[in-house]
Amino acid sequence: MNYREFARKQIESIRKTVGKGAAVSALSGGVDSAVTTVLGAKALGKRLKVLFIDDGLMREDEPGKVRKTFARLGIKVTIVHAADKFFAALAGLTDPEEKRKAFRHTFYKVFSKAVRDSGAEFLLQGTIAADIIETRKGVKTQHNVLDQIGLSAKRGYGFTTIEPLKTLFKPGVRKVGRVLGLPAAMYQRMPFPGPGLSCRVLGEVTPERVAIVRRACRIAEEETERFKRFQAFAVLLADKATGVTKDGRRAFGHIVSVRCVDSENAITAAPTKLPWPVLMKLQQRITREVPGVTKVVYDLTPKPPSTIEYI
Ligand code: XMP
Repeated sequence: MNYREFARKQIESIRKTVGKGAAVSALSGGVDSAVTTVLGAKALGKRLKVLFIDDGLMREDEPGKVRKTFARLGIKVTIVHAADKFFAALAGLTDPEEKRKAFRHTFYKVFSKAVRDSGAEFLLQGTIAADIIETRKGVKTQHNVLDQIGLSAKRGYGFTTIEPLKTLFKPGVRKVGRVLGLPAAMYQRMPFPGPGLSCRVLGEVTPERVAIVRRACRIAEEETERFKRFQAFAVLLADKATGVTKDGRRAFGHIVSVRCVDSENAITAAPTKLPWPVLMKLQQRITREVPGVTKVVYDLTPKPPSTIEYI
């Protein structure tokens, strides 16, 4: 496949669809939305408004990093602060699909208001083929696949979606990113789920629990950086485990699972064979640097029967 030609065609098609109007792109910092945003910016220039919803569920320092990277590409990013709204919607929820639904509805409420305020009528989304397949099969509802779950963006939220990457899988998306001139650090970035760290907190999603998993995720990313893995992250489990402090007192603390997988397209995945010293370093850093953790486990399950994320 000729990715340069693919990009050219998508740029042309976005230009044609939007006509004299304006569009909005939801940037998350991930590869898919980054590539979609650059396609949109090349098609529409200043008529593309780029929004970054700070949902409070991002990786460490994410909003600032994203704004800087895109500023270097000449693309202005507007940050919408909405963490409170997301945490309010997630409060008390423990069921995975209910959490995903709450996230999705909050996202579109916050986002549709920002879109309406901008006066744009089109929404560019970074949906890719794997999202559509998994949602159709009912494995899990991806927050970015509205039509597949019978939620009309037009009827429910008042805008029309454009999904230039929906025929591609991850490797193809990265190739489009490269021909568009994105920095390698961005198009090679590991995938991050739309609902963010809420996918990595089992049980209730609170700011405190997200803070724990955010620090653990950073350690998991750092310690596995030199391996050619598809994704590496940490998950905070819903239960607690007994531990013991250095001076012999009982502790009852969090359980963190580290997930690191090899995969081509996220449809199947295998656990990365990390060397023992790396695994030991992971447990050491997580128990030392993340307060209240008494147990760290490494997840050995392939997909299937597991999925990559935990909800
Ligand atoms: P699973 O957990 O289904 O994940 O094996 C497959 C890939 O998709 C990512 N993922 C998501 N991406 N919105 C996204 O944009 C979502 O709701 C979502 N859920 C999972 C996951 O990180 C993995 O790369």
